[in-house]
Amino acid sequence: MGPAPSARAQDSASRAATGGAQTLEDILARQQGLKVDQAFRSEATGNPDQAAAITDQLGTLGGVSDPELWRALRFGSADVTVSSRAPAADVIIQDGGMAWLHFRAGPLLHYGGYLLLAVLAALVLFYLLRGRIRIDGGITGLTVLRFSAIERFAHWLMAGSFVVLGLTGLMMIFGRVALIPLVGKEAYAPAMAAGKWVHNNLSWAFMIGLAMVTVMWVLHNIPNRQDLVWLAKGGGLFSKGVHPPARKFNAGQKIIFWLVVVLGFSISLSGLSLLFPFELPMFAKTFAVLNDLGVPQVLGIADLPTAMTPHEEMQFAQGWHAIVAFVFIGVILAHIYIGSVGMEGAFDAMGSGEVDIQWAKEHHSLWYDEVSGRKPRDKVPAE
Ligand code: HEM
Repeated sequence: MGPAPSARAQDSASRAATGGAQTLEDILARQQGLKVDQAFRSEATGNPDQAAAITDQLGTLGGVSDPELWRALRFGSADVTVSSRAPAADVIIQDGGMAWLHFRAGPLLHYGGYLLLAVLAALVLFYLLRGRIRIDGGITGLTVLRFSAIERFAHWLMAGSFVVLGLTGLMMIFGRVALIPLVGKEAYAPAMAAGKWVHNNLSWAFMIGLAMVTVMWVLHNIPNRQDLVWLAKGGGLFSKGVHPPARKFNAGQKIIFWLVVVLGFSISLSGLSLLFPFELPMFAKTFAVLNDLGVPQVLGIADLPTAMTPHEEMQFAQGWHAIVAFVFIGVILAHIYIGSVGMEGAFDAMGSGEVDIQWAKEHHSLWYDEVSGRKPRDKVPAE
């Protein structure tokens, strides 16, 4: 938020007294962590007429002053030529670092942590109120194939890598506040170096698993009328004996599927941007598109920045990657709960691939009709 117009006028008056430099108010505001309007510096470059006269206090000796050069470097208007061909080598000073650092060490970490704790608390509460969702009609011992070997392989490739990526990612973000105080820097440093290597390289397994799952299941996840009925009945999750009909995937699973696709795609893109520093900038362009679509106006916020240094691109990629990760982990915690402890018989679908026919009739009746009608796969278990 910029200062009010009267404060601004007062500002420029006191700034004239400092020869256009920052004022005591600016310094105090910065010390209090308030936002300081930097226009008085960022716009004060390249115009000799704005410089204080040679005869004035703080006047330049003609030409460009040193502070002016530093300002131009800081705000990206200097004409910099470097011999290094390394990406972003011509950025001598970048101005976004402190804001990013504060965001990463503050709101990102706090809200992300609270979100995960809230999800865990909600799951515990749900378990206490509803208990394990049982197979109401009892286990029959007859099973039907629900997921083929290739489907289960893709799921576990994605799920296994996701869990390791999630844990190593949380290690990175909570390292300084939680792990270093706990285990010390000497133990944390090598563990995190290994964790980062694992995080970077396992990302490929996740992306391959995500692509396979998306291709194999997308047709089964197109919304239909049954989904509305399922949602209206809360999927029968909140009351015993209620089993709204569903095909291969019910509306709840479709929501999980599409969240996995969208969040998975977005986390992969921002992850690739981080994996290849400065090579895959995508935020300035994305923000330009969002500005053109009028998204900031709808949200009632200022236009998103479209001019940024390569380093700021990386800072946005990190922030976005972590925000998506927190939301994604929250979603997946709920999914893991319902696929394991939360519902009797569910894990078998991804474990052995075979589910009890009573489970199939209760949770996916239309799918069961389809598969049992077309080609019965029921078989008596070996015991
Ligand atoms: C690590 C623990 C996990 C367990 C125990 C687990 C369990 C399961 C089970 C039992 C199913 C089959 C449900 C059915 O028969 O209809 C399933 C499906 C699925 N899983 Fe997982 N899963 C885990 C992790 C993950 C992760 C990390 C992701 C994504 C990043 C994921 C994405 C999916 C999707 C998209 C489906 C299909 C839709 C659904 O059933 O919700 N799973 N999972």
